[in-house]
Amino acid sequence: MKRRSRILVVDDNADLLANLQEILEDEGYEVLPACTAQEAIERAQGGFEVGIVDLRLPDESGTSLATRLRAAAPEGEIVLLTGFASLETAIAAVRAGAFAYLVKPCSTPELLLTVEQALLRVRLHSEKRDLARRTQVAEKLAAVGTMTAGLSHEIRNPLNAAALQLVVLERGIRRLQGELQSTLLAPLGLVRDEIKRLEHLLEDFLQFARPREMTGRPVALAEPIEAVLGLLTADAERRQIVLERGLEPGLLVSGDSERLRQVLMNLALNALEATPGGGRMRVSAHAEGDEVVLWVDDSGPGILQEVRGRIFEPFFTTKPSGSGLGLPIVHAIITQHGGTIAAERSPLGGARFEIRLPSLRRIP
Ligand SMILES: Nc1ncnc2c1ncn2[C@@H]1O[C@H](COP(=O)(O)OP(=O)(O)O)[C@@H](O)[C@H]1O
Ligand SMILES: [Mg+2]
Repeated sequence: MKRRSRILVVDDNADLLANLQEILEDEGYEVLPACTAQEAIERAQGGFEVGIVDLRLPDESGTSLATRLRAAAPEGEIVLLTGFASLETAIAAVRAGAFAYLVKPCSTPELLLTVEQALLRVRLHSEKRDLARRTQVAEKLAAVGTMTAGLSHEIRNPLNAAALQLVVLERGIRRLQGELQSTLLAPLGLVRDEIKRLEHLLEDFLQFARPREMTGRPVALAEPIEAVLGLLTADAERRQIVLERGLEPGLLVSGDSERLRQVLMNLALNALEATPGGGRMRVSAHAEGDEVVLWVDDSGPGILQEVRGRIFEPFFTTKPSGSGLGLPIVHAIITQHGGTIAAERSPLGGARFEIRLPSLRRIP
């Protein structure tokens, strides 16, 4: 099946426009026709792969429009259409960052070949960007590895000692009478919360740096899900967030129950953190073909469009005291289980994280 690449065609000559549209649609492309620069900019908002732009438009020069279109859809390539070939035209095309230019009237094979070549370049660019991103993530991971583990252990010992002394201190304070007790208990609570926060952070770091071997055993998915929801019930109640579950019975995957629990814990904590009081969080799972699909939904604000591409990057966080390691850990564990994870909009209004794991078999 031919992929439906989007081709924006801009020409003020209605006959030519209709003609180009027909040729391109016959090839299976999705065509976005526009007669003016203004219309072209509007059409370009949804993105396009190739823009074919007439050099002479009623409201703006084709070269200046090409520059604006490249800004609106940086992934796309521009092909200029011109009435006659000249050195000037060629220079204008280069200036506008156009991929090529076509002289009218151009033959159908010439048009299609140029579009094909432009599309090839679009694909190569996008593969290059993906690769660069993956390499960057892998390098960050490697750099973090052992150093993190060492450092975390070093920090953990004094932190444990401090937590213990705090308990001793609290006992002492509770024996005091009257106002002094409450005056001292308040800052003590703050210190305890801060220590807890550091412990969470360390836990994230350690999880992240831990060696990646895994024991694959049959895991009934209900087990890690119930364990995590159980742990979070009190917290959710305190914040008046409703925890919902929708589990198809008998779902079985191959993997490491402990690690799957970690996955769910990280996703659920993110969901709870994102959801304001009175909201909902839902964990559900069902079978789909030979896969198990797991959803963690929340009714929070959803994932900001501008950070969407970065949330699985190590250390990427939008929270003042986040580690930015929760999702990279989830990603690593799910990949290790032969699964995939993606973020999308939730029917509850906030974010949905969808995990797909190979299904072991279903318990009848
Ligand atoms: N359920 C969610 N709703 C909205 N944003 C989310 C959600 N889960 C994750 N995110 C975004 O992804 C970022 C990275 O998450 P994560 O890796 O767990 O690190 P952290 O929780 O420490 O920030 C968060 O800072 C947040 O911006
Ligand atoms: Mg997190």
